[in-house]
Amino acid sequence: MTDPSHIGTLHPLKVGEVTLPCNIALAPMAGVTDSPFRRICRGMGAGFVSGEMISAKALVYRNKNTAALCLIHPEEHPVSLQLFGNDPEIMAQAAAILAEEYPHDVLDINMGCPVPKVVKNGEGSALMRDPALIGRIVEAVVRTAARPVTVKLRKGFGRDECSAPECALAAEAGGAAAVTIHGRTREQYYSGSADWEAIRLVKEALHIPVFANGDVTDAASCAKILAVTGCDGVMIGRAAEGDPWIFREVTAGLSGAAVPPRPDRNELREMILTHARLLTEDKGEFTAMREMRKHAAWYLRGLPGAARMRVRLSAMEHFEELETMLQLL
Ligand SMILES: Cc1cc2nc3c(=O)[nH]c(=O)nc-3n(C[C@H](O)[C@H](O)[C@H](O)COP(=O)(O)O)c2cc1C
Repeated sequence: MTDPSHIGTLHPLKVGEVTLPCNIALAPMAGVTDSPFRRICRGMGAGFVSGEMISAKALVYRNKNTAALCLIHPEEHPVSLQLFGNDPEIMAQAAAILAEEYPHDVLDINMGCPVPKVVKNGEGSALMRDPALIGRIVEAVVRTAARPVTVKLRKGFGRDECSAPECALAAEAGGAAAVTIHGRTREQYYSGSADWEAIRLVKEALHIPVFANGDVTDAASCAKILAVTGCDGVMIGRAAEGDPWIFREVTAGLSGAAVPPRPDRNELREMILTHARLLTEDKGEFTAMREMRKHAAWYLRGLPGAARMRVRLSAMEHFEELETMLQLL
């Protein structure tokens, strides 16, 4: 149960036996929340960071590219890894592999991915049509994960469906230590706005902590989602792309301090270069600079000349090119 004095505030949060330093987290985003970005967000004040979704099947069959998604740097903790799949046995085997080989703090299960390739296989958000299977998957994973297991859900599957409370209760009964609710249905994908009332219904139904998710873009909207939903924590996704400072601002705002000013050009330049360096260390220059094209475009969003820079960024191959480009900033 939530301590009433905690509602709407910044505070440490217990997920199972793991204590998160604060209740504001980076949401999992495939292609975005890799180890370098997670480290940057932790450095900016995120109390908890989430990895990209990992196919349980691919992990169990030892797919070579999958292992890279599981790597964790010591500076990231507390961090969650996220599995997707729909076979309780395979999910349990995958959780056992992660437990043995990768030192994560929390294991999350993806039950919200809307992508057709995933849904067609009965995985991701398709699970929201089968609460009994949700319960069985969570139970199986809890048996082998050796750490708290959490579940990430949407509001529902069909356009106006709100099955989140029923699905979240099934997850809780299966042994989940917390859930996150993205307040959109599968059919909405990322369109329209997140239904924070639907998230409140889940919070009211459950005893375990609930993270609210969807459309938090700054300190004010973060305070508002906590007030509307009564949730224990918040996950921030897209607003953190190219803007890890959001964690510094949101945590200051919630703790009653003045919200720090937006980063100046020096800070922006230094952050982009740090991000590129961390990516290069982890993935080598070839991959790092390709991945950095989209991150840099996000960092530069809204600045005068950004469109012109984006064209140059889209062909960037080497770290030095980025450095040169940023001198013009
Ligand atoms: C590019 C991208 C990738 C995502 N990948 C994942 C994922 O791997 N696992 C997951 O549970 N959610 C994923 N999501 C959903 C986010 O975690 C989050 O629920 C959603 O973006 C709504 O939150 P926001 O409004 O703060 O962005 C992804 C979202 C985006 C935009």
